[in-house]
Amino acid sequence: MTSPPRVRVLFDETSIARRNEELAREVVASNPENLLVVAVLKGSFMFAADLIRALHRAGISPQVEFIHLSSYRSGIVSSGQVTILRDVESEVRDRDVLLVDDILESGRTAAFAKDLLMARGAKRVLTAVLLEKPGKQAVSIQADFVGFTCPDVFVVGYGMDVAHSFRQLPFVGVVDYLDKEPDLFGGT
Ligand code: IMP
Ligand code: MG
Repeated sequence: MTSPPRVRVLFDETSIARRNEELAREVVASNPENLLVVAVLKGSFMFAADLIRALHRAGISPQVEFIHLSSYRSGIVSSGQVTILRDVESEVRDRDVLLVDDILESGRTAAFAKDLLMARGAKRVLTAVLLEKPGKQAVSIQADFVGFTCPDVFVVGYGMDVAHSFRQLPFVGVVDYLDKEPDLFGGT
């Protein structure tokens, strides 16, 4: 039996939990009204689950929705095309929306979702991302709330995967073998 790959911790559980409380306070400071949280599946599910509970502690009672987007990744490289695999069900017209995603890299996923919700008449679409990879942006979008700046490595854990593995990790880390053989891995 081969031993499981080692994952080096980049952002640990305690730091993420602390940052989520700060992010929730930043969201409160933006004075959201009739807030609808839209979590971008799949990668953001854990971040969104923690962030909305932090929002609750910070005194906000949002409604929560999901959108499943695919950015057609081949291996660990994004192709740049975004499609909707599952859409939100709620009406967004005249509402403040908080879009929650795991990583802002090229910015295409977040920009696509933001444009879509604005086109449907949202009053404001604010974006919260756990991680931002600087210098990788292909489209211009500024996240309103950013958990951490992430080095230019492929990360997993805390909802993020390689071929559906590692999502369960309570921290964000780097799989040791990924830097060596990136083409071996598919997934979203
Ligand atoms: P963007 O559209 O290029 O900004 O890419 C954002 C999406 O790509 C995120 O929602 C993630 O699903 C995925 N992604 C980008 N970098 C990573 C990574 O390092 N690990 C896991 N997923 C990633
Ligand atoms: Mg994603």
